[in-house]
Amino acid sequence: MSLSLPERLARDRTLPDAELKTLLASGAHDAELFALADATRRRTYGDEVFVRGLVEFTNFCRNDCLYCGIRKSNARAERYRLTEEEILSCCATGRALGFRTFVLQGGEDAAWSDARLADLVKEICARHPDCRMTLSVGERPRAAYEAFFAAGARRYLLRHETANEAHYAFLHPAGLSLANRMKCLFDLKDIGYQVGAGFMVGSPGQTLDCLVDDLRFLQKLDPDMVGIGPFIHHAETPFAREPNGSLDLTLRLLAVLRLMFPHVLLPATTALGTIHPQGREMGLKAGANVLMPNLSPVRVRKAYSLYDSKICTGEEAAECAGCLARRVAAAGYRIVSDPGDVRRPS
Ligand code: SAM
Ligand code: FES
Repeated sequence: MSLSLPERLARDRTLPDAELKTLLASGAHDAELFALADATRRRTYGDEVFVRGLVEFTNFCRNDCLYCGIRKSNARAERYRLTEEEILSCCATGRALGFRTFVLQGGEDAAWSDARLADLVKEICARHPDCRMTLSVGERPRAAYEAFFAAGARRYLLRHETANEAHYAFLHPAGLSLANRMKCLFDLKDIGYQVGAGFMVGSPGQTLDCLVDDLRFLQKLDPDMVGIGPFIHHAETPFAREPNGSLDLTLRLLAVLRLMFPHVLLPATTALGTIHPQGREMGLKAGANVLMPNLSPVRVRKAYSLYDSKICTGEEAAECAGCLARRVAAAGYRIVSDPGDVRRPS
């Protein structure tokens, strides 16, 4: 008997373009796809869910990505920048809650020079030698990435956003290029980072062909982590009237990614939890194995507004940790206090 499309994807870890598009275009194969994705994640990661404590340390940004609520042209954004002491205190809180990975994420903020950021990374690593430092601070020169690595950072998240040249130009202002984004990702990998790429699902102008381009690019990059979440409009951006990305397509893509990259770290993102109250739980059941709860001080949470109606902006870190642990257990998985490194086959 001939194998189904999900079974062939699970066996071969790839499909021809036309069949990938068939798989993504409708929910016809979803039940089988999600079951195979869950079985695949359980073979490598069991029922474990890794958590990363996210510190959104600045919302100043020199960039003007058309989809993003903290783009520099948004004059109504309330700008903030945490101090070193505040960031260190977020990490200390996170460690006490069992987090073993910290992610410093922010806009491209000139006040955080390469040297200042490297000093901070060094200090966090000195205080928490049993934790992994992850950075997500956008495009910087290779020398900066090297300095952060020398300071102790071991992971870097930089979504490629879209691997289709024309689509990239549609989403970004002139001056930003897909070529440089990709160069940054390959530089990071070459330096020795565990690298996370990714894209929004349903961003304006995205087609199934764009998504196939994304999957092909990921096959070339072979990242350790892939961050995907639905596009959600923000009222103060040029895309304010664009429809949000779809829950179903995001879940389907999570499952496809799990089958194409069985070992990859795959977060069920806050954006997924924003478009549906059970979105993150559904993401876990479709193959995701990472959550990134917010460790930022509550007073700045609303200001890191990438998109409208973002969840978890009112809760203290400890409340979020408790809420997530209950949700994950109810979904049939288990949060572990572990650095959560990628488990590539030896
Ligand atoms: N500046 C860093 C960078 O460029 O990687 C990190 C911050 S950036 C805001 C983090 C991610 O947020 C982006 O890679 C993008 O995919 C996502 N994002 C931005 N605006 C969004 C929106 N409207 N809906 C969903 N995700 C969004
Ligand atoms: Fe800079 Fe979004 S435009 S973080």
